[in-house]
Amino acid sequence: MGSRSFSCSCLFLVVLGLVLNVAVLCNGGKTSSFVRPVEKTIDMPLDSDVFRVPPGYNAPQQVHITQGDHDGKAVIVSWVTEDEPGSNSVIYWSENSSLKKEAKGQHYTYKFYNYTSGYIHHCNIRNLEYNTKYYYVVGIGNTTRQFWFITPPAVGPDVPYTFGLIGDLGQSFDSNKTLTHYEMNPQKGQTVLFVGDLSYADNYPNHDNVRWDTWGRFTERSAAYQPWIWTAGNHEIDFAPEIGETRPFKPYTNRYHVPYRASGSTAPFWYSIKRASAYIIVLSSYSAYGKYTPQYKWLEAELPKVNRTETPWLIVLMHSPWYNSYNYHYMEGETMRVMYEPWFVKYKVDVVFAGHVHAYERSERISNVDYNIVNGKCTPIADQTAPVYITIGDGGNLEGLATNMTEPQPAYSAYREASFGHAIFDIKNRTHAYYSWHRNQDGYAVEADSMWFYNRHWHPVDDSTSAQTK
Ligand SMILES: *[C@@H]1O[C@H](CO)[C@@H](O)[C@H](O)[C@H]1NC(C)=O
Ligand SMILES: *[C@@H]1O[C@H](CO)[C@@H](O)[C@H](O)[C@H]1NC(C)=O
Ligand SMILES: *[C@@H]1O[C@H](CO)[C@@H](O)[C@H](O)[C@H]1NC(C)=O
Ligand SMILES: *[C@@H]1O[C@H](CO)[C@@H](O)[C@H](O)[C@H]1NC(C)=O
Ligand SMILES: *[C@@H]1O[C@H](CO)[C@@H](O)[C@H](O)[C@H]1NC(C)=O
Ligand SMILES: *[C@@H]1O[C@H](CO)[C@@H](O)[C@H](O)[C@H]1NC(C)=O
Ligand SMILES: *[C@@H]1O[C@H](CO)[C@@H](O)[C@H](O)[C@H]1NC(C)=O
Ligand SMILES: [Fe+2]
Repeated sequence: MGSRSFSCSCLFLVVLGLVLNVAVLCNGGKTSSFVRPVEKTIDMPLDSDVFRVPPGYNAPQQVHITQGDHDGKAVIVSWVTEDEPGSNSVIYWSENSSLKKEAKGQHYTYKFYNYTSGYIHHCNIRNLEYNTKYYYVVGIGNTTRQFWFITPPAVGPDVPYTFGLIGDLGQSFDSNKTLTHYEMNPQKGQTVLFVGDLSYADNYPNHDNVRWDTWGRFTERSAAYQPWIWTAGNHEIDFAPEIGETRPFKPYTNRYHVPYRASGSTAPFWYSIKRASAYIIVLSSYSAYGKYTPQYKWLEAELPKVNRTETPWLIVLMHSPWYNSYNYHYMEGETMRVMYEPWFVKYKVDVVFAGHVHAYERSERISNVDYNIVNGKCTPIADQTAPVYITIGDGGNLEGLATNMTEPQPAYSAYREASFGHAIFDIKNRTHAYYSWHRNQDGYAVEADSMWFYNRHWHPVDDSTSAQTK
């Protein structure tokens, strides 16, 4: 690289910056001028430190937890043993007491093409106390390993709680940076809301499920200590008829259990939980959602149940975004938007998090529900009763960044940037939540995008960035 090509690209960036500035003036939204250094996104090799198998005979690995009931008094502990089934039990005790208790789970195995899984254990520990630190041990009878978690405070309207947002993580060097930045963020997320696309094992020949195991070992350092709330993405489908695998979601459903029955759901792909002051609804972009389908009927009955006096914050997770101004997966979420958006406006959803597009984007509060085929009203309009839509598919998987954006930036798009990162949704009380997005290139405390959310039920005043800075 000579100095000549360097100055050329600088000039190019200056011109690009001017063009983007003009776009900003025309449209109100912001396309970040941050330019990430171009590096290839590659998966960490199998012998990486983060994939190391814990030592000892039949040692539990890939340990992860998630909420195990509707209210936060149960925790599902999951782990894998490789040598023999071993014990299905979890021994646990609260930090206040030396009384050890035992919960019994079950284990499963599955085959995928020529891969045979280890023994995948799931154990739901119920009737825990709120707001308490518990230690737990798995691997009873062989090699034991000890971890801990903290249960959430009792459900209630003004309970502060801090959620992390991660999507489309994969297992590249960038994925490791994203997870490290999440862990090191001084805002200290207490639970991860994961918007789908976990391991990306399906990018390997025959969807090499060894990459599901490495992903489980990679994420253990966070997921064994705080719950990750799972959403299914397209990389969880694992539909591979060419190698005889026609049952969708087989690795995902064997490895990641969720408390779907506790919210009256009939399938693990859509469900809800309450946690502190939040009501979280998880939807499936890859299950039927049309009228009369199980997911539709469930959501139709679910939304009226949300009691904003008990849980002021109504958060929805899904994989495929409804509002996305990148030239990747453009309009893939459109048919689901048409089905459910009127409900989100009616029930005043505060925020919708999605992934799928490997970049970051935050929308204004907008809705697009007036169109009726003949009236021509097909442009999103500002709507203070509508959610903010956030695409957070920027975890850093091997497919790389989505950089190509639709131009000009649509008016509904408040901020967009093609960088890897994570976000924090920090609920302060029933009226206020502080949201921030953190790109991997910055220091751990740096916020590249942020917004004060005003609750749509308790404090529905205009919270757009322009209104707040007036
Ligand atoms: C355990 O101790 C913590 C902190 O001291 C306290 O907040 C919590 O209520 C206690 N839990 C139980 C079950 O006693
Ligand atoms: C599965 O098949 C692939 C391709 O034929 C091969 O590379 C791999 O080693 C096989 N794995 C097992 C566990 O047999
Ligand atoms: C491993 O643990 C299981 C369950 O406690 C026990 O039945 C088995 O004998 C142990 N295996 C060895 C080799 O110690
Ligand atoms: C992943 O990140 C952790 C924590 O920053 C670091 O210790 C480890 O060496 C990294 N591994 C790889 C393969 O990048
Ligand atoms: C909503 O929750 C509040 C607080 O828990 C409770 O007092 C009220 O009865 C609930 N409303 C309904 C309709 O269940
Ligand atoms: C960006 O996407 C558009 C629409 O798909 C396409 O026409 C264009 O060639 C792409 N630009 C680049 C640089 O890939
Ligand atoms: C809610 O939190 C915000 C932000 O911290 C604060 O300004 C406001 O006073 C709080 N409201 C109440 C009722 O405490
Ligand atoms: Fe995806």
